[in-house]
Amino acid sequence: MSIRHFLDLSLIDARTLRAIVDTAHRMKRAGKIVPAALKPKGIETAVLGMIFEKPSTRTRVSFDVAMRQLGGQTIGLNHTDLQLGRGETIADTARVLSRYIDAIMIRANSHKTLTELAEHATVPVINGLTDKSHPCQVIADLMTFEERQGAIAGQTVAWVGDGNNVAASWVHAAGKFGFKLRIGCPPQLNLEPEVLEWIKLEKADVEVTDDPVEAVRGADCVVTDTWVSMGQTDAPRRKQLLGPYAVDQALMSKAAKGAIFMHCLPAYRGHEVTEEVLEGPQSAVFDEAENRLHAQKAILAWCLGA
Ligand code: CP
Ligand code: NVA
Repeated sequence: MSIRHFLDLSLIDARTLRAIVDTAHRMKRAGKIVPAALKPKGIETAVLGMIFEKPSTRTRVSFDVAMRQLGGQTIGLNHTDLQLGRGETIADTARVLSRYIDAIMIRANSHKTLTELAEHATVPVINGLTDKSHPCQVIADLMTFEERQGAIAGQTVAWVGDGNNVAASWVHAAGKFGFKLRIGCPPQLNLEPEVLEWIKLEKADVEVTDDPVEAVRGADCVVTDTWVSMGQTDAPRRKQLLGPYAVDQALMSKAAKGAIFMHCLPAYRGHEVTEEVLEGPQSAVFDEAENRLHAQKAILAWCLGA
């Protein structure tokens, strides 16, 4: 069997992704006692290495707890503590770590680091966020959407704000899960060219507009994210361009009645979203954060062969 890397939603077939989200729903229902049927084979001895090149609260803690609840263990590796920080290659690091541990999760500055790691590792590699995508987040987001709005196929999601890494994973999800995605973003901060190309190639139902109201009109869910992602240095320019895309109650009122609001967190109140929306009745953000835990278990179970 080939190694089950979890690098991007675009690289995994739709049926497998659907099964991962279904497992995530089941993991949540199972709670802390995971039924044997949902446990990866050999998890009692499995160890996940977690490499972080950037800060993390949710990804770090949810993967750690997920592994423990599945019966495995984790090792947290700050990249500056590894010889990687002194110039050892990613390829050698991948080959060495593969001799000790059963899976590697990495939060990388550059997507190339992730793909290089996967190319040389002989154990599954999981994308815990790069500059290009955040697929684990969107598995939890799909799960959160479905808890409140039912099956996502055929429904409409609006992304408003920066055409960033999380937006790219939402695009991949739209293609794989068969829902409509409307992106409202300034042309200067549009999706990356390869993501726009993927939409065309896959004929995904994704529309891009620079009008936030047009993006959210009638949508079942409105999603946004920080205006300044980790590693970005042009904060003043971004804040100026993204000002008109802030999600406030007036914008939410253009979405469908009963629409929900999601944000991967951390949130910057008064910037990309108002306090009123983030804390309001339509907000699903803390369920979304909780669902990272259940989603990570489903991802780990798949990667480790459950
Ligand atoms: N949403 C998310 O990935 O959060 P962290 O940066 O805290 O991991
Ligand atoms: N787009 C954000 C997501 C943080 C979880 C970033 O990359 O910083």
